[in-house]
Amino acid sequence: MSAPEPGPLRIPLADLDYDQAEAAAVQRVLASRWLTMGPETAAFEAEFAARLGARHAISVCNGTAALHLALLAAGIQPGDEVIVPALTFVATANAVRACGARPVFADVCSLEEWTLDPADVQRRIGPRTRALLAMHYGGFPCRMPELLALCRAHGLLLLEDAAHAPGASLDGRQAGTFGAAGCFSFFSNKNLAVGEGGMLVTDQDEIAARARLLRSHGLTSSTSERHHGRALDYDALEVGYNYRLDELRAALGRVQLGKLEAGNRRRAALSALYRRALAGLEGVHVPFTGARGTSAHHLMAVLVPAELRDATRAALRRRGVQTSVHYRPVHTLSAYRALAGEVHLPRTEEIGRRELSLPLFPGLAEESVGEVVDDLAECLRAQRPSG
Ligand SMILES: Cc1ncc(COP(=O)(O)O)c(C=O)c1O
Repeated sequence: MSAPEPGPLRIPLADLDYDQAEAAAVQRVLASRWLTMGPETAAFEAEFAARLGARHAISVCNGTAALHLALLAAGIQPGDEVIVPALTFVATANAVRACGARPVFADVCSLEEWTLDPADVQRRIGPRTRALLAMHYGGFPCRMPELLALCRAHGLLLLEDAAHAPGASLDGRQAGTFGAAGCFSFFSNKNLAVGEGGMLVTDQDEIAARARLLRSHGLTSSTSERHHGRALDYDALEVGYNYRLDELRAALGRVQLGKLEAGNRRRAALSALYRRALAGLEGVHVPFTGARGTSAHHLMAVLVPAELRDATRAALRRRGVQTSVHYRPVHTLSAYRALAGEVHLPRTEEIGRRELSLPLFPGLAEESVGEVVDDLAECLRAQRPSG
């Protein structure tokens, strides 16, 4: 679609929940004169692990790095296949390719439930399949019991892209803690935002040890340990990466973690408000009605008629309402078309043509929900041939 016309933004898609607490956390780090991988990072990891009920949490510089390390630490290698959704951010599939492995795309359950369909996953399991990387779309937990059972039956690893789902849960378990490893993103628009940051959680000691090693060049000791005299020398055990998080972002993450529960509750309340306001609006379908578990409500995603979607987005932007599309299916992107081959994912493709994400963030005013819905109704009506 063409670029949105410039104009003032009245209601953004997402906004930070930042105040003096974040400013104080950054000041504290600056005063400490230690900027990377130190006490704030260690505390953030411990607090995040405790919040999720995971044995290990390993902070990294972004969610894509968390996915890459999780796949590597789980032993994914060139020649392997990893089943992923196509209705996801491209990073999910990119991380698989960064390991030299091949992402195999599977469809979502339905136009109601936009997470991996266990039956479609099963059809795509082949001799090279090593793992399944499930993504909790919009913060709504995937069908984890069915996916876990499939993985057990076929000897596959289950990994989770929980970028949308910090604080989401199913059957008393936190999203990100069902499989061998769970990966989180702390990008600016996420429920827990630090700018750029991520976290890998796992209960498996070997995965945690390997992820820690690979996060920092495969080194046996950190700069902080050497600086503080706890280590004099280092060795590189593997060829690793620099995927470290710094102290400033770890300190921001600790404050944001403290706000996560209230933020997710507020998102849930606003989503319920949207749902009521959108009920009966011609041409609009709101998915995840009666969804299982507790969502983190990262997105307010709806379906509108495909032929009206882009013009409606542009019209909303002219009225100062920012929207987005989550997502253009990965197998339709230029970098993936050849690799994906003839794959046809009818539900994912339909959602890709019809999806529209409306503004949702904890600081969104309740009146704004009504305004967005009124604007959406008017813009849709104006786009219709008879409108
Ligand atoms: C579903 C999903 N996976 C992975 C990522 C990658 O995270 P990051 O941008 O922190 O690398 C994102 C976020 O952008 C995401 O939404």
